[in-house]
Amino acid sequence: MVTREDAFWQRQQHAPLYEALVSHSRGRRHSFHVPGHKYGASFDQAGSGHYHSLLSLDLTEISGMDDLHQPQGVIALAQQLAAEAFGADETKFLIGGSTVGNMALIMSVCKPGEKILVQRNCHKSVYNGIILAQAIPVFIIPAVDPSTGVAAGARREDVERVLHAHPDAKAVFLTNPTYYGMGIDLAKMAAAVHRFGIPLLIDEAHGAHYGFHPDVPLSAMLCGADAAVQSTHKMATSMTMTSMLHIQGERINRERLYRALAMLQSSSPSYPLMASLDLARRHIVLAGRKELERALPTVEWLRDKIGTIPWLSTPALTDGAVYTTLDPLKLLLCLHTAELSGYQLQAILEANGVYPELAEPTHVLLAASTGTSANDVEQVWNTIESIVLETGHRHNHEKMYPSVLASSFLREQALPMHEAVNRTCRSVALEQAAGKVCAEMVIPYPPGIPLLVPGERIDTEVVSLLRELRSSGTRFHGVNDASLQEIDIIA
Ligand SMILES: Cc1ncc(COP(=O)(O)O)c(C=O)c1O
Repeated sequence: MVTREDAFWQRQQHAPLYEALVSHSRGRRHSFHVPGHKYGASFDQAGSGHYHSLLSLDLTEISGMDDLHQPQGVIALAQQLAAEAFGADETKFLIGGSTVGNMALIMSVCKPGEKILVQRNCHKSVYNGIILAQAIPVFIIPAVDPSTGVAAGARREDVERVLHAHPDAKAVFLTNPTYYGMGIDLAKMAAAVHRFGIPLLIDEAHGAHYGFHPDVPLSAMLCGADAAVQSTHKMATSMTMTSMLHIQGERINRERLYRALAMLQSSSPSYPLMASLDLARRHIVLAGRKELERALPTVEWLRDKIGTIPWLSTPALTDGAVYTTLDPLKLLLCLHTAELSGYQLQAILEANGVYPELAEPTHVLLAASTGTSANDVEQVWNTIESIVLETGHRHNHEKMYPSVLASSFLREQALPMHEAVNRTCRSVALEQAAGKVCAEMVIPYPPGIPLLVPGERIDTEVVSLLRELRSSGTRFHGVNDASLQEIDIIA
């Protein structure tokens, strides 16, 4: 007799979308459809060596290949298998990253003028979704982790307090885990939000591997959230730009969601990219646990080694921490020295062939995955050890906290964001901006969290923080003047 579990494993062996592409590529084909490269027949000669095999799979919505916007065939099947694998009622493939998933979710829960609770340290796509939906954000200030200085998750009591004050809010949108791998007790949060009768939406961009090993936290779907957007390309193994949106329950209006996705996504989504989602799902189901068994101790070895260096630390799950989960694949290196900045450490690592995920004035973030090998982590350790051998005694051990991440304060929202972006604006020197209303998003990048959003009043505190970041070499997104000598304000 075939048990339910056997049936699950049998189904999950398949990758229907990928298989359809491969089968088409093996037949006798005369393409009279786009794309114009005709399975690679006409393509730049120097580039074709690398692109050739991918171009043979680069199809469009021809017979048998289904349509992302009206899935009834192989794409529908691939999405069903993903829903089953990730514990959702329904999964939608996203081409355009978690960015489109976040925006579509907000557009599906909020009509113009309706409120949504969002964590202040959310990704810019959440802000952009609010602007597109013409929604009114009610911000929740995240807890700041005192041992690293970084912003973590929202506290449940804060969410409940704000929901009591705004009973007309249509949804709560949180980020879990954060870029740095910190998370909250999502099951309790979901129960709390549901008591107010509204959905909990989770930006789970950094948690596509959650739930696939007992030593990684549970996913948002498993914790009872109503929707979760995962960048499958970040911590799982699909190609860049591909993500998944998982939904369960009845609190989200599916028709509005489909409409928003159709508006935001290309009418010609890439088949090789979509098929990579199909393969990433199969890979994490069939091989994820085994690969994590190998990768997790390797990363732990590096974490322990780093723990021996007085001027470096990594976050740990301790009693009293402001987060309750920590992604074991994220290594946030916190520098406690004035003699080496995060950017300098990044440069030394890169000179030794190690490319971190991000650097900030006093942090470097290393993102490992199922693909990280012992050789990779040894190279990190060898590089750090060589810094210790060369300069170890000269480092002081004073704690250095990054002011940018500890200061995700609320600022006066002088105008709704969607109104502010449509007002006439002008540029002023950053030093003269205090008291004015900001007309653009000021996003130190990475990690892509806006310090100012359109409509917020600029205060002296944020001006000095931005000056500090500017002089430390931080890059800014969202602004007209990337050097941030000037900032756009409402005229
Ligand atoms: C927390 C968070 N949410 C959403 C996104 C957007 O994801 P994507 O790059 O898949 O569009 C990012 C990207 O860095 C992110 O860090």
